[in-house]
Amino acid sequence: MARSIIICKSVHHQNTWKVAQAVADVLHAEVVEPEEFPAADLDEYELVGFGSGIYYGGFHPSLLNWIRSLPDAALVHRRAFVFSTSGLPLLWRFWHRPLTTELARKGFEVSGEFHCRGFDSWGPLGIFGGINRHHPNEKDLRHAAEFAREMLATGDREQVYRAAG
Ligand SMILES: Cc1cc2nc3c(=O)[nH]c(=O)nc-3n(C[C@H](O)[C@H](O)[C@H](O)COP(=O)(O)O)c2cc1C
Repeated sequence: MARSIIICKSVHHQNTWKVAQAVADVLHAEVVEPEEFPAADLDEYELVGFGSGIYYGGFHPSLLNWIRSLPDAALVHRRAFVFSTSGLPLLWRFWHRPLTTELARKGFEVSGEFHCRGFDSWGPLGIFGGINRHHPNEKDLRHAAEFAREMLATGDREQVYRAAG
């Protein structure tokens, strides 16, 4: 199995961290925050996951900054995948794009993308108890684990896209 690491930033309700753990269990990967993972350590991994909640229509800025800090074209044949949770699910593929574009620019092959709903009590939503109160739920996490298994099974052959909930 490819040696894997998951870089995750989950600041609202730890929603995305739960997804990261479900994927990590399948990949036998560690989940770390970008601030605690030096780019130089990337050499030890073949498959790298990047995930966060969606904040104001995008990933947490620390993820994009982390990827931008990598030297250009220093990565030969390394696979990546991205995942997110958000209050509203519809635009997730669009919200993922800046990160996947930057990953490709740095030489990563993007092997998969995953999204599911996450409990959202941001701003005025909090007054009404928030939305997606029980997400990610067990079914979402099962989908996340299936996504990881599918990614392992397809290897380099194709990309895996999955949305749950
Ligand atoms: C400051 C802030 C901004 C947010 N912006 C969006 C947004 O633009 N679109 C959306 O669908 N959800 C948005 N959300 C909801 C989060 O994406 C959702 O709750 C997510 O599951 C949080 O993940 P986390 O618990 O891992 O931080 C926002 C939440 C916060 C706190």
